[in-house]
Amino acid sequence: MSADIAVLDTITDAVLRYDPKKNRRKRAGLQEPRPGFEICLADAFTWLKERAPQSVHAIVTDPPYGLKEYSDAEKTKLRRGRGGVWRIPPAFDGCKRSPVPRFTVLDETEHNALRDFFADFGKLAYGALVPGGHLIVATNPLLSHLVYLPLIEMGFEKRGEVIRLVQTLRGGDRPKNAHEEFRDVTVMPRSAWEPWGLFRKPCEGRVQDNLRKWGTGGLRRKSKDDPFLDVIRSAPTRPEERKIAAHPSLKPQAFMREIVRAALPLGKGIVLDPFMGAGSTIAAAQSIGYKSIGIEHDPAYFRIAMKAIPALAQLKVKGASSSHDSTRGKDAAAKKSVAGSHRKGR
Ligand SMILES: C[S@@+](CC[C@H](N)C(=O)[O-])C[C@H]1O[C@@H](n2cnc3c(N)ncnc32)[C@H](O)[C@@H]1O
Repeated sequence: MSADIAVLDTITDAVLRYDPKKNRRKRAGLQEPRPGFEICLADAFTWLKERAPQSVHAIVTDPPYGLKEYSDAEKTKLRRGRGGVWRIPPAFDGCKRSPVPRFTVLDETEHNALRDFFADFGKLAYGALVPGGHLIVATNPLLSHLVYLPLIEMGFEKRGEVIRLVQTLRGGDRPKNAHEEFRDVTVMPRSAWEPWGLFRKPCEGRVQDNLRKWGTGGLRRKSKDDPFLDVIRSAPTRPEERKIAAHPSLKPQAFMREIVRAALPLGKGIVLDPFMGAGSTIAAAQSIGYKSIGIEHDPAYFRIAMKAIPALAQLKVKGASSSHDSTRGKDAAAKKSVAGSHRKGR
């Protein structure tokens, strides 16, 4: 048992709770008690069906938006390092790249399955959220329409998108097996951004009424002078974080802390990530001082999350929001939006 796991309170029936009151160890840099989190080894749909209605204040999640890439068959190929939808992007600077899923290989049946997946998810997420609660969902430029439409049909209001500016190494290739013949052609643009759909369950009455009653309806400002911005410059996930949490889709703490912080306008309530992977959302919430719940159905990723969440939450991340820097002024906030590591990774 590692030192980090020792601070976790209970592991019962694959539900793990961290209770800060029972953690008497003094940790460096911790000025106030952390709020605690709960992670469950469970199917997100089953868990959401059993969850009390209107009991979650925000959902921030990076779902399996290609669906196929997290099927058992594809995960086996990924872990074997051969075949399937996972591919290693070409190395152009001597760095070993992490595998990324190829979404261009999905066929019409898989597109329909994706739409159904988000219709089911949207219905359950809508029920669990309080009025005015935000749903911030990662997607990609090829598939975002299949994610967004079912959510809108469910009743969510589309409030825009958060654009994560990041070099993804997707696209930019010449036509396959005809590179020489078509030297000046690129089949698809080299993607330099990742969309995160921003949705809201409708408010009860005016935003101010909803804020008073439910604590939701808006987004938390970066500071008194600065609203939350919908474009965030972001480096790929740092090797330091990848070492802590070996998940192929790990999102960087610098970015996650920005969006998780914004998701609770008054800084109160519960943030849910129903597809938590290695727990980057939960770690971000923990670092900021928000209560959170994470769900993951793969036992291997769940075990990684158990160890990774406390470690990621304690990382110092240049420019990221935490419970200790939420009152920064305009200059610091402006620097923050363009800050980030420039090290290589995904
Ligand atoms: C894109 S990854 C999320 C990675 C995460 N953002 C991180 O930083 O670690 C999606 C995760 O959802 C999990 N997942 C897929 N279907 C699920 C389901 N029905 N219930 C719970 N988890 C599920 C997958 O195992 C995978 O770990």
